[in-house]
Amino acid sequence: MIKRLRLTLKRDIDESYDILIGHGLLDNIPLDLKRSPVGSKYAIVTDSTIKDIYGERLLERFKEENLNAYLIDFPAGEESKNLSTVEYIVRRLLQYGLDRKSAIIALGGGVVGDLSGFVASIYMRGISYIQVPTTLLSQVDSSIGGKTGVDTADGKNLIGSFYQPKRVYIDPSLLKTLPEREFISGLAEVVKYGVICSRELFEYLESNVEKIKGRDMDTLLHIIEVSCRIKKSVVEEDPWEENKRTILNYGHTPAHALEKLSGYKCLHGEAVSVGMRISGWVAVRKGFWSIDEWERQNKLLKSFGLPLKMDFNSDELIKTLYYDKKVEAGTLMFVLPRRIGEMASIGGRYKIPVSETELRRFLLELS
Ligand SMILES: NC(=O)c1ccc[n+]([C@@H]2O[C@H](COP(=O)([O-])OP(=O)(O)OC[C@H]3O[C@@H](n4cnc5c(N)ncnc54)[C@H](O)[C@@H]3O)[C@@H](O)[C@H]2O)c1
Ligand SMILES: [Zn+2]
Repeated sequence: MIKRLRLTLKRDIDESYDILIGHGLLDNIPLDLKRSPVGSKYAIVTDSTIKDIYGERLLERFKEENLNAYLIDFPAGEESKNLSTVEYIVRRLLQYGLDRKSAIIALGGGVVGDLSGFVASIYMRGISYIQVPTTLLSQVDSSIGGKTGVDTADGKNLIGSFYQPKRVYIDPSLLKTLPEREFISGLAEVVKYGVICSRELFEYLESNVEKIKGRDMDTLLHIIEVSCRIKKSVVEEDPWEENKRTILNYGHTPAHALEKLSGYKCLHGEAVSVGMRISGWVAVRKGFWSIDEWERQNKLLKSFGLPLKMDFNSDELIKTLYYDKKVEAGTLMFVLPRRIGEMASIGGRYKIPVSETELRRFLLELS
């Protein structure tokens, strides 16, 4: 005799949050948190580089506002994005006595954001966290949308969770200290937003290359705001990446493989730039996109100083692609543009299958 008890659980939770964007926002974070608190104690988690530039300063501002805050840092770089650092941060949080009512402030680029968000999602079964992105990539992309995670020896972001922050503070003036190569790398994601969602943004970028490269603050504020609006609306439409959200991965299927093949020597945005040239060519050859617009995309990427080519072996690239999470039932899946500002879909699905034979031919044409 089997007795069946049903435990009914339905989720209907409001996970909305504000994204605040403004020059000089960093110094005002403690005051804003005093007005609308996210936790009773705060742990600022950052990397060794940002600690010296902005971490100590932010901690001081917390103290001036008589808020309970601690600073935790780990060595800068992707090599730190692993479970050992997760454990290290957790132990520091415990030492400082952070409890379920406490919050983490992720002050840094995507590495700090992904790690801190992941720690927040598991510490005492989940505590609040706030994103304070300091790289262009994290300001336009990784700080929004709640994807958190760490790498393993087998690949990037293989362990992780969907866990939304409670607030995002974006201060474009922090980008003044960002190394040039990191800054340019972040621009690849901005160009991506133009191609996938906004012809207007794409044209704005084309008309403002010099101002952007010169880091004109008002121009940066504008492109960051537009990028965040695009990311926000795509995430709102499809938070669990069931269909629409995959368009954010334009260029990323080849990019992830290229990053891996380079031993993570190339920066993410650099790989995305090369990846957009590859995916764009696939779109052209499969009859979705015009060659003129593909060339226009490449010209814009190049004008920002982004690479269009990398040394790789096609067979190795294809082999690596199969490890990507975007492979479905053994078939390679790509998201492809149909015009600047719009992605192609088949039967309402944005992931488009590309056979290995096709891809091999297309890659050969590009080399
Ligand atoms: N969660 C997501 O949705 C998402 C999206 C895209 C990328 N990512 C992840 O983001 C990571 C890459 O992030 P990233 O490009 O920001 O790299 P990063 O966090 O490693 O930062 C790059 C370097 O710049 C330094 N730095 C950061 N801000 C600075 C500043 N204002 N001034 C001076 N130096 C500064 C850092 O110390 C670091 O050395 C990858 O791990 C990637 O997987 C996540
Ligand atoms: Zn990306």
